[in-house]
Amino acid sequence: MTTATFSTQRVDPYNPPAEHLRLQREAPVSQVPWRNDTTIWAITKHADVRTVLGDARFSSDRSLPGHPTFAGYTSASKLKNLIEMDPPEHTAQRVRIMGEFTVKKIGLMRPRIEEIVEETIDTMLASGNSADLVEALSLPVPSVVIAELLGVPFEDHALFQENSAMFVEADATPEERVAAMGALKQYIGGLVAARVEQPGDDILSRQLAAGASPEELTGIGFLLLIAGHETTANMISLCVATLLDKPELLQQLRDDPKLIPGAVEELLRYFTIAEIGGLRLATADLEVGGVVIPAGDSVFALCNTANRDPEVFPNPDVIDFTRGARNHVAFGFGPHQCLGQNLARLELEVVLEAVVRRIPTLRFDGSFDDISFKEWGPNYGVYTLPVAW
Ligand code: HEM
Repeated sequence: MTTATFSTQRVDPYNPPAEHLRLQREAPVSQVPWRNDTTIWAITKHADVRTVLGDARFSSDRSLPGHPTFAGYTSASKLKNLIEMDPPEHTAQRVRIMGEFTVKKIGLMRPRIEEIVEETIDTMLASGNSADLVEALSLPVPSVVIAELLGVPFEDHALFQENSAMFVEADATPEERVAAMGALKQYIGGLVAARVEQPGDDILSRQLAAGASPEELTGIGFLLLIAGHETTANMISLCVATLLDKPELLQQLRDDPKLIPGAVEELLRYFTIAEIGGLRLATADLEVGGVVIPAGDSVFALCNTANRDPEVFPNPDVIDFTRGARNHVAFGFGPHQCLGQNLARLELEVVLEAVVRRIPTLRFDGSFDDISFKEWGPNYGVYTLPVAW
């Protein structure tokens, strides 16, 4: 065991920290040093991660004393939201909104998402021969999609996008970030109030009709935005960076675009970008992998490491688009499993298909080694991705 605080910092852009993989091999359920001189149980095997995430007695309620937090994750921790609730409170909200995110319902959005992606690529290509892909494609696509999902009128898209970009902006000060989030929350609150006055055929109106209070709904709207925006953007950038870095993988998708859904699934597994999705607090003595975790202890279910478990994914460090990796835990597992996963998959599929088809000359403007990765943060990704075509 290291004496330094257990860290999610990635050193190798393609792989989880070596220390986490070592724990998986040698001590898959073990106590490690955590922040402020405390300890946390690091859970690293796929089956054990699912045990923890599948049992709500491993609480997600961050308001409980002793619930583990993540340095730098100050933004969402002030919110009491779906992702930070336990049953039965969680179940009631989740059941009410789940129907909006089914494969079928999200599938209906495909034509519009295709249009958004085509238009965004048109604008990028018209801008010259090079761009930062993050700014030109990865961030705008999920931002416009979520804006439309929430029923943000077109004339407000700029305000919405500017503020959503600000809280993931690498150079933003904490004050700027807080101000941008305040503006968005206020904006979403205004949208909800407008639907109270005049309901329409949109997700917010349907949630109000189903019994959500305006405050609750403002919280959910905001959560959808923060949970679905940067995550999807990071995955778009990482997928494109990987394809440019490994031309044999890109060629596979060019030769057979039907591989794209499998490629998306495999890259979701491979990168597992939600670094802190698995922080929990044991509310009873609970057994995991033959070890009893006492009530009151902090637990960290490491999805990233679980997704490299060789017992579940043979040759886990190889990117294999034909693997059929649907049992990965990149979207978590159990009651809090990502609500937006069908939307994220669809956005990623549409973007990758369009990039592969439309920009055959796409290349790094620089090299893979110049990319600055979000090595340490709530979500893995890249800050900028300079490309040329
Ligand atoms: C590649 C993109 C995405 C990844 C990797 C991802 C990952 C995750 C993970 C790991 C969790 C579980 C957190 C936990 O157990 O505490 C989660 C929850 C959640 N995600 Fe995503 N997500 C993505 C995209 C989206 C999108 C597009 C949306 C919505 C539009 C969304 C909305 C949510 C919500 C609302 C929750 C909380 C669900 C609950 O607590 O019941 N996510 N996500």
